[in-house]
Amino acid sequence: MHFDVLTLFPEMFCGPLNESILKRAQENDRISVALHNVRDYATDKHHITDDAPYGGGGGMVMKPEPIFAAVEAALANETDVPVILLSPQGRLFTQAVAAELACYSRILLICGRYEGVDERVRQHLVTDEISIGDYVLTGGELAAMVLIDAVTRLLPGVLGDPGAAVDDSHAQGLLEGPHYTRPAVFRGWKVPEILISGNHAAVARWRREEALRRTFERRPGLLERVELTSQDQEFLARLAGAGSAEDDD
Ligand code: ADE
Repeated sequence: MHFDVLTLFPEMFCGPLNESILKRAQENDRISVALHNVRDYATDKHHITDDAPYGGGGGMVMKPEPIFAAVEAALANETDVPVILLSPQGRLFTQAVAAELACYSRILLICGRYEGVDERVRQHLVTDEISIGDYVLTGGELAAMVLIDAVTRLLPGVLGDPGAAVDDSHAQGLLEGPHYTRPAVFRGWKVPEILISGNHAAVARWRREEALRRTFERRPGLLERVELTSQDQEFLARLAGAGSAEDDD
């Protein structure tokens, strides 16, 4: 998967791209990332990339010409590459969107800055607009890094354990339950007996129930979109019953 990133601050990407899994994914040719500095595509003497908004008001708006020029130079004549603007007005980035993007061989990300980008970029260049959450960042760079990270770890051969991405929180629509490692007793706090029982079926059921419990307690809305077995439904009914019994006390 190749990522083209248009930004005014390419150096912001150095840390995240040069450590850990993203670093290894580049070394192993699972991903490549080309950082394009939008300023290099501004043709005026001072390489100006922003200007005051028409109609007045505060803040600056990113000019369309350098962004169009950068995208056209990066993609040359390649078509079918999603051109994604990172902005707080985009569709919400979720695990499902990450999985959808992981199917492409190349995507281009535009990191907005200032008050936003000239609307003609949205209308005539961008094919998708993504927000990483309902809050406003200083620019799209951190959002682009989040997107690259979440997409990369879904690509074949990126994570050491091929099952890891399947069991993730959100991958199955549920939050993950608790994990434990050695020691079996730490400061008197014991690892649940079942995890050391060696009974794989019982461990699998326990994990499923803990994932259901955590989702029920923290993000109950997610349960509406998950495929639940009758065993799952019985477990949730018991949880709900236990909760309402407590409420009655
Ligand atoms: N740029 C500023 N805020 C953002 C957000 N929440 N998501 C994506 N890009 C952004």
